[in-house]
Amino acid sequence: MRAVAKARANIALVKYWGKRNAALNTPARGSLSVTLDALVTETSVELVEGDRDELVFDGAPGSGSDLDRVSRFLDLIRERAKNSKRARIVTSSTFPSASGLASSASGFAALAVASLRAYGLSLTPREVSILARRGSGSAARSIFGGFVRMHAGERNDGTDAFAEPIEGTHLELHAAIAVFRSDRKKVASGVAMEWTRERSPYYEAWLATVERDLAEAEDALKRSDFSKLGEVAEGNCLAMHACVMAARPGIFYFCPSTLWAIDRIRSLRTVGVPVFFTIDAGPHLVAFTTRASLRQVAAALEEHPDIDRVIRSEIGGPAELVDGGHEGRGA
Ligand code: PMV
Repeated sequence: MRAVAKARANIALVKYWGKRNAALNTPARGSLSVTLDALVTETSVELVEGDRDELVFDGAPGSGSDLDRVSRFLDLIRERAKNSKRARIVTSSTFPSASGLASSASGFAALAVASLRAYGLSLTPREVSILARRGSGSAARSIFGGFVRMHAGERNDGTDAFAEPIEGTHLELHAAIAVFRSDRKKVASGVAMEWTRERSPYYEAWLATVERDLAEAEDALKRSDFSKLGEVAEGNCLAMHACVMAARPGIFYFCPSTLWAIDRIRSLRTVGVPVFFTIDAGPHLVAFTTRASLRQVAAALEEHPDIDRVIRSEIGGPAELVDGGHEGRGA
């Protein structure tokens, strides 16, 4: 049996940084994101004979830690399906992997949807979100389109740590994603989260910030208040990075030109352009703006010689099987 699925990356406006339970990959707090149409991962899963899984990652054979992580994730599905068959997984993305551009979100969301179908399982979108979370915390959100909230949950088994779509907002965001020329990111987010929890004097303050930011961001969405949402998202992003930098020793995801890009976005705002930024665990900057200002924002970011390309994106839809079925509609 072979199944193909695609999922879009999401970018958190209120970020997930810190685990409640590392084994179950439950987050310490909730988070809030928007799914982006232009950042797509497509994955096929085919059941094969043999005693090991095989991974082809952006055209090259995947091995080592990437393959282990995928195999451990498939083990969860094999256990559920009572089917021990191995799989050949072929995956590719329209954007750089493992560089802090949320490839694990779209990657594990697409893998969850394709492998469930390949192993003959049918779950509700909420159950798919819970499963995707085991691969990557942010993948739980990429099961859904639009604006998405992730619940931290309280249960020890992780069954209440899932994402769901936020209904009733009319805010239209457009993204200009500034991709810097850079190598693979140096510290994986999962490792850096644990490092921060153990070693940053600001970790508890960060968790308290998230609680407040979630409430304010949801309220801004309800009122379709672009500038309030931007204020919360920028503050939340900088608080996360400050917490990570303050760990001893600190971790830096920015490259020098990231600061240039932050400054550029703020200068645009001073002259009246509606725009705000956020940055995940990597150097790239995502600017959010309106449809009318997208061209101006993208052109401003393209001025910098270290920026490889600026990807323009609208808000994206849910993870889906490529032969048609939607996995992320409703909850
Ligand atoms: O899903 P993970 O384990 O790669 O962690 C994602 C961490 C951030 O992208 C920095 C924040 C987020 O909420 O997506």
